[in-house]
Amino acid sequence: MHEKLNIKFNVPMMQAELRTLHLWPPVMQNEAFGGYCMQSQDGDWRSGFEQAYSYRRGTDDGREVGLAPHMYNKRTDLSSGYFGQMIAMLESQGFHPRRSRVSVVMPGSEMKWHQDAPEDTYCVRLHVAIHTNDDAYYETESDGRVHIPADGHAHLVDTSLMHRSVNGGTTPRWHFFCEVWDTQGHSQNFVVTQSRKSIKPYHDMIGHEIYERVQREKQG
Ligand SMILES: [Fe+2]
Repeated sequence: MHEKLNIKFNVPMMQAELRTLHLWPPVMQNEAFGGYCMQSQDGDWRSGFEQAYSYRRGTDDGREVGLAPHMYNKRTDLSSGYFGQMIAMLESQGFHPRRSRVSVVMPGSEMKWHQDAPEDTYCVRLHVAIHTNDDAYYETESDGRVHIPADGHAHLVDTSLMHRSVNGGTTPRWHFFCEVWDTQGHSQNFVVTQSRKSIKPYHDMIGHEIYERVQREKQG
């Protein structure tokens, strides 16, 4: 599932900020995918690119191999500029952004099909394109290919479903992205209180009392 939000960021400012990050080589998870981390588990910008969930296609042995998404909550040294302002903006809008990163998918490469969480778990990512090309897309089995243009708009995707990113073009594709929980109804499809999925990580993040209230609201 995919949804374009009515929330817009400044593309030239993201591009200028990314140029300053290029003083350091990005951390690469593999030859296709890597980047820089603005919110990690330990405050180091080189952290945060570990795999969180492992799922082998065609088998039932999906399992968590990393930390829960809400644990990536420590601002890194790279969050002082515009990307930090984006995080603050998302915080003020009730998205509880976690594990904010800017990431590259290298030209001519595709990520493996995977899930970031079990399919019954609320696992939503916000993406904003910084640099892209016509042959770069996000793909799910249910919705097919979605090209996210670098027009500043934020998009939400359900990464508990099988998905992958592909860059069939000749230029690197850069996105800002993070884990979010839509608690204020900015989206049609991803409002926490209306979700039928498990929100255990959100529970751990906000504490038991608020979680109980959210659960009561969910049950109407
Ligand atoms: Fe993913």
